[in-house]
Amino acid sequence: MAKVTKKATTALYPVPAVLVSCGTGAWSNIITLAWVGTLCSNPPLIGIGVQPARYSHRLIREIGEFVINLPSAGQARVVDYCGVVSGRDVDKWAACGLTRAPAVKVRVPLIAQCPVHIECRVRQTLPLGTHDLFIGEVVAVQADETVLDDQGVLDLDKAKPLAFLNGEYRRVGELLGTFGFSKKAEEA
Ligand SMILES: Cc1cc2nc3c(=O)[nH]c(=O)nc-3n(C[C@H](O)[C@H](O)[C@H](O)COP(=O)(O)O)c2cc1C
Repeated sequence: MAKVTKKATTALYPVPAVLVSCGTGAWSNIITLAWVGTLCSNPPLIGIGVQPARYSHRLIREIGEFVINLPSAGQARVVDYCGVVSGRDVDKWAACGLTRAPAVKVRVPLIAQCPVHIECRVRQTLPLGTHDLFIGEVVAVQADETVLDDQGVLDLDKAKPLAFLNGEYRRVGELLGTFGFSKKAEEA
């Protein structure tokens, strides 16, 4: 099949679209981010790419902490809204009917309505170009008990993750296999 050369952009898909809470108390804010990725297992590091012009950029830089709140597919509208209005103009908590809940290890509040929360402390900040990369060390993870199975393991059918692909919000689809299943099938 013939290949078509496309513009050299960050064409990667799917990527997560997450709600990052930042700042503290009444000054806390929510920003939608898609430039988010796992960087290292030990220490557990996640990178977020944030444009310096974002209101949230200053809050993350000043507090040195942020929380990645994983939304479920049913929260697509909130995810989009928090990515098209600024905390400079709008209280996104009130506008979206979201509630602050205390985190375990950081001063930044969690978004109570999201099923999973990853609390991070900024280890390093790297200016890259349009975006600054905040490298956050994960210091705590909390999950809503409604998305765990009876062994306490995250049940993705309950969490209903949301993915972002080429500007579209989509549900994550059917199970195709589990880690290492290809080799196990060979051995059987
Ligand atoms: C799906 C989606 C993904 C986004 N990803 C990023 C991102 O990774 N980095 C970024 O700086 N802005 C991103 N944005 C834009 C910000 O969320 C948006 O500018 C927001 O209004 C900034 O809020 P703030 O001014 O309250 O910080 C994204 C927006 C959407 C809708």
